[in-house]
Amino acid sequence: MTLTPSRDDKFSFGLWTVGYNGADPFGGPTRKQLDTVHAVEKLAELGAYGVTFHDDDLFPFGASDEVRQGEVDRFKQVLADTGLIVPMVTTNLFSAPVFKDGGFTSNDRSVRRFALRKVLRNVDLAAELGAKTYVMWGGRDGAEYAHSKDVRVALERYREAVNLLGDYVTDKGYDIRFAIEPKPNEPRGDILLPTLGHAMAFIQTLDRPDLVGINPETGHEQMAGLSFTAGIAQALYQGKLFHIDLNGQRGIKYDQDLVFGHGDLYDAFALVDLLENGGVQGGRSYDGPRHFDYKPSRTEDEAGVWESARANMRNYLLLKERAAAFRADPEVREALEAAKAPQLAQPTLGEHESYDDLLGDRSAFEDFDASAYLNGKGFGFVRLQQLATEHLLGAR
Ligand code: GCO
Ligand code: MN
Ligand code: MN
Repeated sequence: MTLTPSRDDKFSFGLWTVGYNGADPFGGPTRKQLDTVHAVEKLAELGAYGVTFHDDDLFPFGASDEVRQGEVDRFKQVLADTGLIVPMVTTNLFSAPVFKDGGFTSNDRSVRRFALRKVLRNVDLAAELGAKTYVMWGGRDGAEYAHSKDVRVALERYREAVNLLGDYVTDKGYDIRFAIEPKPNEPRGDILLPTLGHAMAFIQTLDRPDLVGINPETGHEQMAGLSFTAGIAQALYQGKLFHIDLNGQRGIKYDQDLVFGHGDLYDAFALVDLLENGGVQGGRSYDGPRHFDYKPSRTEDEAGVWESARANMRNYLLLKERAAAFRADPEVREALEAAKAPQLAQPTLGEHESYDDLLGDRSAFEDFDASAYLNGKGFGFVRLQQLATEHLLGAR
């Protein structure tokens, strides 16, 4: 297996990731602004297949039509020159002061109308560039204080917005689906649709639920103390994994946006195993872009930016190689069997068995020896985890 990324690996990066200038709430930029054309050329050279962007990454907020078109043309030219594609596009509804109380759910109705216009305009551009997924991250859609935002009403406004977007792409005949990106907090104290579970439940209330899925981000679920891999498994189960943001996070704290693999490495290992080997027949369970949404640390210069971009892809490929070795190990197979993992796939009731049959089955209850589980019938999950650890550390 090669550790050199190829386009078949479907690695993509946001322009805002490698383009992050290092500014944080305590200090200004530590790097100069990266030119779009240069960024796309470098990503292509490093082995990515795709590049994504917010409208404001490509041209400044409030840019004239002429400036906007000039930047779009330069971008299209470098895409043509490098062969990179644009799998996903998104809107910035969080940086400009106008969005200080959110976009789709600002209490100010005129801001909501402006936000919708900004998105519709960018959806046209997404369609023009052939993007198949449109991400919605409502970073400012939330609140710090309970009485400042009626969450039920805000959800209604969010629903109104997404329904309108669904009408729009359907009427226009665009081949675009939407993906909601959950995040528990930051920049708002509490963000609407804080976890992937909240988002998936919300999607079911929409007029066109099939048109909308989710774009979960590693660090965002982990900021809520949740298992990213378990969440991704449920998203796959419900057919809602439309896109994914991979990065690294260490524990419940501010959004670190570290390189993929530089946070919870066990979870990254389990995730790659799920994506690459968790399909029904084994093999890939998710075929979309492996999109890195990370921020090169503020301590790095431009060389460090490209080093970190490379690290995301290399870590993914290393974990893919480790996961393949784990799956191929006969001892792992035996440990999975001993852990009764395959038994979970067996329905709890027999074919055509009714609750009356179950009630009549003495072996299920009256004659069942529940006491055998005290000091016996261990599952051996720790042994399995140790085998995973040894594969992860390259000891097997
Ligand atoms: C974050 C978010 C953002 C969004 C992006 C898409 O780090 O808080 O991930 O980076 O993914 O803005 O709209
Ligand atoms: Mn993030
Ligand atoms: Mn993200």
